[in-house]
Amino acid sequence: MPLGSSVRGLLGRYEPAAIRLYRGRFIDLDALAATIASVAPDSMRVLEIGCGDGAMMESLQRQLPATSMLGIDPGVPTPGRMFDGDRTRVTFEESLTSDLIARGEPPFDLVLLVDVLHHVADVDRQTVLDDATTLTAPGGTLIVKEWEAGKGLGNRLAFVADRYVSGDVTVRFMRRDEMQALVDNAVPGWQRTCEARIPPRRANLLLSYRRSVD
Ligand SMILES: C[S@@+](CC[C@H](N)C(=O)[O-])C[C@H]1O[C@@H](n2cnc3c(N)ncnc32)[C@H](O)[C@@H]1O
Repeated sequence: MPLGSSVRGLLGRYEPAAIRLYRGRFIDLDALAATIASVAPDSMRVLEIGCGDGAMMESLQRQLPATSMLGIDPGVPTPGRMFDGDRTRVTFEESLTSDLIARGEPPFDLVLLVDVLHHVADVDRQTVLDDATTLTAPGGTLIVKEWEAGKGLGNRLAFVADRYVSGDVTVRFMRRDEMQALVDNAVPGWQRTCEARIPPRRANLLLSYRRSVD
């Protein structure tokens, strides 16, 4: 059992606050949500691929309260388990992107990949991005946020947290150029609309692309 599951079990009702405190050492999700909302303010349907416990979607809902959101994550038992916002227009599923494509899910105005790619095996990263682009509507936006590989203490702590707390052995961060090349390859002809660093750590790199209206 990964260290994270054992610790979470011990925390009981303090788990949500403890997770917020722990994650806040690495990323300010409200600042991230504000940046996302500023890049794609008119998004009516949002897909988060790899939504985990739903923390990111909770922050984003405060920025875009009228937006319908779908969060998918095949890697956690109950996606959106900690989501504490209004669930009226929010759905969580254990689905893969390929499941959504196979069932003909209409494309979304905004597709998010937040701290997901470094958990995906190298050979599968391009496929996840290709699926993300398939699920982005013409005129829609794809946003990828990753922890950029580096040499400092912050980078080592982020690796230990992701590798040993989550128990995920595939964790590998990318340098900016590799991340950019990977995403660029998936979005030929799309317009890059934003590159941002999200506090409190410069390693939080966000790239945003708009699909042309075909
Ligand atoms: C660090 S969590 C991020 C959760 C959420 N995006 C957030 O920022 O609050 C990474 C998540 O990516 C999920 N994941 C890994 N590979 C995936 C894939 N191929 N498709 C969808 N989700 C995936 C994992 O199960 C995990 O829950």
